[in-house]
Amino acid sequence: MMRPIGIFDSGYGGLTVFRSIAAMLPGYDYIYMGDNGRAPYGNRSFDTVHQYTLECVQWFFDMGCPLVILACNTASAKALRTIQQKDLPGIDPMRRVLGVIRPTAEVIGNYTRTKEVGVLGTRGTVLSDSYKIEISHFYPDVAVHQKACPMWVPLIENGEHTGAGADYFVKKYLDELMAEAPGIDTLLLACTHYPLIADKIKQYLPPQVQVVAQGDIVATSLTDYLTRHPEIDEVLTRGGSTRYFTTDDATDFNNQASVFLGKPVTSEHVSVATLQR
Ligand code: DGL
Repeated sequence: MMRPIGIFDSGYGGLTVFRSIAAMLPGYDYIYMGDNGRAPYGNRSFDTVHQYTLECVQWFFDMGCPLVILACNTASAKALRTIQQKDLPGIDPMRRVLGVIRPTAEVIGNYTRTKEVGVLGTRGTVLSDSYKIEISHFYPDVAVHQKACPMWVPLIENGEHTGAGADYFVKKYLDELMAEAPGIDTLLLACTHYPLIADKIKQYLPPQVQVVAQGDIVATSLTDYLTRHPEIDEVLTRGGSTRYFTTDDATDFNNQASVFLGKPVTSEHVSVATLQR
């Protein structure tokens, strides 16, 4: 039986993280699943994001995944802790679910000289304060300035991110953030969609501000995790395969996903069971 690493996102964005993981750890088997049928998660409540994410995690477990990565900041911010602490012990204490916020918080302080970091994310990620809390554990001297950018995911998902309409909203959010905290020298893209507009973001920032995407950070952290946890690493199968699933239309997914992954994608439709709670 195949025991792949599961990579989850509300939709397409996690593919920017998976891209880095697959490049750094090519030997494993992978299953990517996007909950496109219920995306975006960015503006949804804690309870809803938790419910949807848990249902998807259960689906990954049913598919044989011993380890699931929530490659979605919103799900990591709003559902991960509850899943790890409350749900997993009752489902299967031998499985693991990891997110993208902690590995990013662990290293982001090394990027900044001014000790001022900007965090761009969905409304859900920003309102959860997860980055502020996690970064303060590792770097108490670093100030975190957050900005919700609710228009960016819809622009990207509608293929408008390279057009002039995108420039308006990219500039607007960045100007607001930089006016509030001009000392920022490091800007974290804390939403898995944002690497697709990294060039536009750089265009509207002062030259001293560096833009940091999460893909390679999460992939490096996963590599380290597997080295430190041989009990998980040795149960993962190594066939070098990847299967893609979506809870929405597979053809739509294939068309969009290739933009995020940088290569053609063939996906399968899947229905995720609703958990009674
Ligand atoms: N993938 C989500 C994230 O990283 C953004 C998309 C959504 O709102 O569902 O926060």
